[in-house]
Amino acid sequence: MLRPWHLDDVDSVHEICQDPAIQEFTTVPVPYTKEIAEHWIRTSPLKYLEREKISLAGVRSGEIALSVSLHSIHEFDHVGEIGYWVSPQARGEGLATHAVEMLTDFAFAIGFRRITAITLPENLASQKTLLNAGFELETVLRDGMTRRDGTQTNSVLFSKFPKVKIAD
Ligand SMILES: CC(C)(COP(=O)(O)OP(=O)(O)OC[C@H]1O[C@@H](n2cnc3c(N)ncnc32)[C@H](O)[C@@H]1OP(=O)(O)O)[C@@H](O)C(=O)NCCC(=O)NCCS
Repeated sequence: MLRPWHLDDVDSVHEICQDPAIQEFTTVPVPYTKEIAEHWIRTSPLKYLEREKISLAGVRSGEIALSVSLHSIHEFDHVGEIGYWVSPQARGEGLATHAVEMLTDFAFAIGFRRITAITLPENLASQKTLLNAGFELETVLRDGMTRRDGTQTNSVLFSKFPKVKIAD
């Protein structure tokens, strides 16, 4: 189930975001403190109301399993970028793919016309997730990202589009 973030989720988010893969492959602040988790959760409804970001928690059996969000929204152009992480315990079960599909379906239903996702070149799990969720590999962005160690590297851009509606 995808739902808005609750303040009760702070401890779970704080614990999950200690994961080395999340710190390496996403832009979460490092070190990731409880205050950061709380600020992120507290500001998420405001960002939604300001049409800046849609940020949702994925819950399974009452536990936080994942985060999925649509950010870098440019409303005039009908575009946004998707980002996600899955808790280490919940990986390898297709949850990221399912969540990405749910959020992109919702985004297309409310009028988005292009959703992108950008990964580091070696983040094969994320790239597979995107392909499984119906994204296409669009291009490689030369020197498109900075690693945690400060070096610049290529990034890989994926995109997904709404299905064309055929008139009956
Ligand atoms: C990327 C991530 C979200 C995937 O979550 P998940 O729930 O395990 O993903 P899914 O189970 O939906 O799919 C993962 C796919 O990647 C594949 N995969 C996993 N590790 C892989 C690897 N090292 N090399 C190649 N494929 C890999 C899986 O086999 C699966 O594909 P399949 O179903 O066709 O077999 C998770 O690993 C994660 O949170 N990573 C750290 C944060 C991150 O990278 N976020 C994305 C930033 S762009």
